[in-house]
Amino acid sequence: MTERCDLLITNANAATMDPSIPGGYGAIEDVAIAVTGGRIVWIGPRNELPDCAADDVVDGEGCWITPGLVDCHTHLVYGGHRASEFARRLGGESYEEVARAGGGILSTVRATRAASAEDLYRAAEPRLQALLSEGVTTVEIKSGYGLELDTELKQLRTARRLAQHYPVDIVTTCLAAHALPPEYDGRADEYIDLVCEEILPAVAKEQLADAVDMFCESIAFSVDQCQRVINCAKELELPVKAHAEQLSQSGATAMAANAGALSVDHVEYINNMDVAAMAENGTVAVLLPGAFYTLKETRVPPVESLRASGVCMALSTDLNPGSCPIASLRLMMNMGCNLFGLTPAEALAGVTRSAARALGLCCSRGVLRAGLRADMVLWPMDTPDQLAYEFGALKPAKIYFGGRNVTA
Ligand code: NIG
Ligand code: FE
Repeated sequence: MTERCDLLITNANAATMDPSIPGGYGAIEDVAIAVTGGRIVWIGPRNELPDCAADDVVDGEGCWITPGLVDCHTHLVYGGHRASEFARRLGGESYEEVARAGGGILSTVRATRAASAEDLYRAAEPRLQALLSEGVTTVEIKSGYGLELDTELKQLRTARRLAQHYPVDIVTTCLAAHALPPEYDGRADEYIDLVCEEILPAVAKEQLADAVDMFCESIAFSVDQCQRVINCAKELELPVKAHAEQLSQSGATAMAANAGALSVDHVEYINNMDVAAMAENGTVAVLLPGAFYTLKETRVPPVESLRASGVCMALSTDLNPGSCPIASLRLMMNMGCNLFGLTPAEALAGVTRSAARALGLCCSRGVLRAGLRADMVLWPMDTPDQLAYEFGALKPAKIYFGGRNVTA
């Protein structure tokens, strides 16, 4: 470490989430963190801090410091809402029934196609702001409500534009294979041709997507069709992820994991073979308890088996107008524990270290360690267990994005 640094935080404790530090939180009590050029340059017990003069010395006031939170799976750029569909589901219709009747994702496709780029941007802002107020510093945003080139591009450009105006890193994912658009009714293979021959190459050419996603399910695309999308993404040198085994078992998780997917998301219906494929390929299981809760699902992901096999489990909001209109990653931590059986430390790993890994970003964030980004949140709490335990009143005292104080 150099003798001078930009920022030095002391009088605090850290939940570093560094797996090389024993204990689920990688805790360092009475920590010192030195930051220069947006990166952590030193972190450790304060009594071991080398001589260091800092431009800005911050008293952490006894807070716990965590890595900036990472929401690794959202669909937060969309037009309209689906409150009427919510009422229908409360009346007994299932998510699949609503989708098969032309509602669901296709209802949002209609609204998103009709919205101007400015409308989409203005509608997305409060959703993003809600996440940022909870200490989220990296957000993934998917397209998938266009299902035609222009609207997919409009969604992805809107996501990129948000990153220019808010203190957050936005990772974009092209989810053109989200549902079959009405103009391709009965011609799913032809739509996949369009995705592979037109939409993905155009998105890649404009560098609008950092990854490619797909929805493998009876109300969306088959395993073979998803395999074609993966092959195309590989040709374009884009990493892949998949929505799989949300409503039924299809084999998509094993297929995607064996193809090197960064993550497979939902995974309620995965079996032992799927878990083994994820473990073997280092594929992250992204758990989405808000969608499980909203759709009143009953089948929980096999957390015990994922844990025993060493599969990393991330947690995310899945923020979208249908299966999870809930803009709170903190609430997902609570749901991950109460609904899926995660420990509070696993829940925090799920929104930091494992979420970064699900985005292919574990070399730069998700853990507080020298050399990584200084995305940090100071929480006025006695123990990091409080982050999953309580909800509503516990807010960040300070948020640093790349070493910059961005507290609202
Ligand atoms: O992750 N499963 C597919 N896609 C979204 C839901 C999209 C929607 O209903 O609008 C999800 O749950
Ligand atoms: Fe999703």
